[in-house]
Amino acid sequence: MKREDIDKILAQIEELKCKTQKEVEEARVRFLGKKGEVTALFDEFRGIDKAQKAEFGKALNELKQKVQAKIEDLKAGAADEGAAGGPKLDLSMPGDPYELGSRHPVSIVRQEIVDIFRKFGYDVAEGPEIEDDYHVFEALNFPANHPARDMQDTFFVSAGHLNPLLLRTHTSSVQVRTMERMAPPIRVICPGRVFRNEAISARAHCIFHQVEGLYIDEGVTFADLKQAILLFAREMFGPDTQIRMRPSYFPFTEPSAEVDVSCNICHGKGCNICKGTGWLEILGCGMVDPNVLEASGIDSTKYSGFAFGMGLERIAMLKWRVNDLRHYFENDMRFLQEFASAPEI
Ligand code: DAH
Repeated sequence: MKREDIDKILAQIEELKCKTQKEVEEARVRFLGKKGEVTALFDEFRGIDKAQKAEFGKALNELKQKVQAKIEDLKAGAADEGAAGGPKLDLSMPGDPYELGSRHPVSIVRQEIVDIFRKFGYDVAEGPEIEDDYHVFEALNFPANHPARDMQDTFFVSAGHLNPLLLRTHTSSVQVRTMERMAPPIRVICPGRVFRNEAISARAHCIFHQVEGLYIDEGVTFADLKQAILLFAREMFGPDTQIRMRPSYFPFTEPSAEVDVSCNICHGKGCNICKGTGWLEILGCGMVDPNVLEASGIDSTKYSGFAFGMGLERIAMLKWRVNDLRHYFENDMRFLQEFASAPEI
């Protein structure tokens, strides 16, 4: 090994210029590759005698560091043409745009409903999604053999107990939790996710969202319920909206009703959205059954109240005329971006 061998490489490195990444890579292989010139000197170094090792060891290491540093410099400076000879980097091109997220339609509708009822003095209450039979059924006056208690409709988390755990099938369970926790007057709405053992289709899903409402005080009547629903419907669907109530049945309300709003698309003339009737069903409601009040420790001789429940996806479907429930859960950007311009709330 001679000193000149090292100096020669140092001089070459000093002079080295590369225009492209491909040339830099070639230079790296030429000096540092398996059969490279610097590597060859290291191989030779292994065979020289001890006295010489002291002289050349340091110089060789310095050489290697210099070559590596130079290659890094060249790499940073060379045009980004790529080994495949691709197009040159055009720094004047616009950058990749960032995708801006937007609120999910169900979140938009939930917030709108919460805002409307906040104006009427309602607070938001929440409860667990994994509930027990007592809060979902028993305290809401469901008879023991009611079909909703069946495995076919309800997802059970732990069956076989007296009070099995299950995924709540409606947000009415939050009514019960609120009445247990608070004394009247009570004015709450309870938005949340619910679960039912349904085959997924355009009209049904095993996960969806509801908003429950509950108002309990002295002397609350059906007229108050009707007025609250009418005011809500006009805020939600426009000031000309009409409502109609049809008698119905729910175990936890007596009397019970289903509420339709006048179709805001055909204005009552009849179209394919309202199936020619001029009306769209939006919610279920009624006067809280005295059994339900008593089960949660509220004196039904002193207090009365009303409750209502609606599906958020259903309201969103009517608002935006989305005809397939599955769109809400598939996170297809093309669908979600449709709502990007919805008002920021
Ligand atoms: N819990 C009912 C359901 O899931 C909706 C409902 C109907 C809630 C009437 C209520 C009510 O509070 O009064 O279908």
